[in-house]
Amino acid sequence: MPDTVTMPGQSKIAITSLSDAGGAEISGIDLRQPIDGATADALRQAWLEYKVLVIRNQEITEDEQERFCRLFGELAGLKSQATATKTLWVTNREEPDRVTAVQRGEMMFHIDQAYSEQPCKGSTLYSVIIPDVGGNTCFSNCAKIFASLSDDWKRRLAGLTALNYFNYDTNPSTRPGEVDPGAPQYSHPVIRTHPETGERSVFINRLMTMRINDMDRSESDEILGYLFDLIENPANIYEHVWQVGDLVLWDNRCTAHARTDYDSEKRRLLRRMTILDENPVK
Ligand SMILES: [Fe+2]
Repeated sequence: MPDTVTMPGQSKIAITSLSDAGGAEISGIDLRQPIDGATADALRQAWLEYKVLVIRNQEITEDEQERFCRLFGELAGLKSQATATKTLWVTNREEPDRVTAVQRGEMMFHIDQAYSEQPCKGSTLYSVIIPDVGGNTCFSNCAKIFASLSDDWKRRLAGLTALNYFNYDTNPSTRPGEVDPGAPQYSHPVIRTHPETGERSVFINRLMTMRINDMDRSESDEILGYLFDLIENPANIYEHVWQVGDLVLWDNRCTAHARTDYDSEKRRLLRRMTILDENPVK
């Protein structure tokens, strides 16, 4: 017997655009409940169109977050930890019973796992505790940035690759100086093509992209500086101000994200789960 399929268009969710740079709020959905086929299709379409989905006022378990992620693909493991867990707690304090990424204050624009051969397709964060001010997540629309480039710039960037690097021990609010040969690193195209939408986007970021390969340092710095500034231009950004109970999903293939500063005395705790990319970066 085939599965029962509800046709798209019958979903009850509402989709509200959040900015000119992407982001949409999804309402009319309770992620504790099973998600029907029409709603799943509507969510997948909205994700590709808006690149960042925000679902507020959710009270979900780890399993329910995982079920949501699985609408978009298989779960990805953690690159940063030698553990089988698929959940990473993003926090500013050690949590003895949890696998954590302890980070304080600001974090520069980056693309999750860009320093690895197979960065995740998407990431989700579910907010449990948030500071009253700051700690916002800014999402930059890298497809919009590519589309805005002049034809000369598009020609200049065609075929280039760049080295992406990350050292978990360094401060994520500053660009690393030297590349430690023992830390994770991988070269990817500067411009990648989205395997589902066909859109091209810039795939570099100030925190992790160290240099363009096979190019003079000065020219590499000039090109990267130009693109980093575009990623950080507010016209290309949706800034998410967290509330407790938000689930946010972003497309890690065509966005970069950053965290704004906040008072390190205030507690911040979010549950992160990422989705495996079944396609190579190209
Ligand atoms: Fe991140």
